[in-house]
Amino acid sequence: MMRTPRKGKTSSGASATSAEVESLDLYEGSARYYDIWHDDYKDDIRYFLDLAERTGGPVLDCMSGTGRVLIPFAQAGYEVTGVDRSPTMLNIAATKVSFLDPKEEELVDMVQSDIRAMNLGRKFKLIFIPYSSFLHLLETKDQEDALKCIHDHLDDDGLFSFAVFSPRLDRPQQLLRHRGTRLTPQGEIISWFEAQTFDQPSQRTTVTYFYDISRQDKPLRRVTSVFTLRYLFHREALELLDRCGFEVVDVNGDYLGGPFKATSEQMLFVARKKR
Ligand SMILES: C[S@@+](CC[C@H](N)C(=O)[O-])C[C@H]1O[C@@H](n2cnc3c(N)ncnc32)[C@H](O)[C@@H]1O
Repeated sequence: MMRTPRKGKTSSGASATSAEVESLDLYEGSARYYDIWHDDYKDDIRYFLDLAERTGGPVLDCMSGTGRVLIPFAQAGYEVTGVDRSPTMLNIAATKVSFLDPKEEELVDMVQSDIRAMNLGRKFKLIFIPYSSFLHLLETKDQEDALKCIHDHLDDDGLFSFAVFSPRLDRPQQLLRHRGTRLTPQGEIISWFEAQTFDQPSQRTTVTYFYDISRQDKPLRRVTSVFTLRYLFHREALELLDRCGFEVVDVNGDYLGGPFKATSEQMLFVARKKR
């Protein structure tokens, strides 16, 4: 069954005004460019599918965005629910899901909710948060609220996993890079630039994306999107998980399952409920 996300309705049934929903939708302006750059990123999908082979379904993909990870789960035969607070991202996912084989489409449910307050009324064998999305939670209370909600939705013998980048203390305070240039099927040439500023005392990085869009018959246009991430350190994440009732069973440093090391670019936590 697929509950197509509807604007202004949360999973717990509480209504939000459209102004509240819009102001929380960090991805509203840039969602339509997300898949151009991310849909072919597949490095993490096998990692989460391998966890699902251990636990079985149903599976909960938190902060599921445009369905980049959710869709391969349905294609692999898992009953999968995606939760995201952005109506724009969910609508893109819903369109992609509608093109799946009907048997796969049947396996997908999507819910518009903030993961800090989700109430889906059921439990899952595997819950995951891919692609550093957990770092959108800026305050310790936000992180704890989300982890407690996840704990409530996790089966007693289930697994919870999340992937975040490993912060390096030697990183520059400012970063500007060209992430690439691509041609869309509509004939637009899009160049993606990223600027980041790091603020070590608050453990935050502010990311600005600039999409420069050109087409022969139209003037150049720039779409800008800004968001802040609160990065996490290894020990901090272990303590956070412990406080929220989880016992860590593995920390990997790459998607092939290698151990986490000081030089690892990723931190991939796998946890279960404390017994
Ligand atoms: C970087 S995108 C990742 C999408 C997808 N998981 C992927 O790997 O491609 C982050 C997503 O997190 C969602 N998000 C941010 N904060 C959220 C929250 N508190 N609750 C639910 N979703 C949230 C955003 O709307 C966005 O779709």
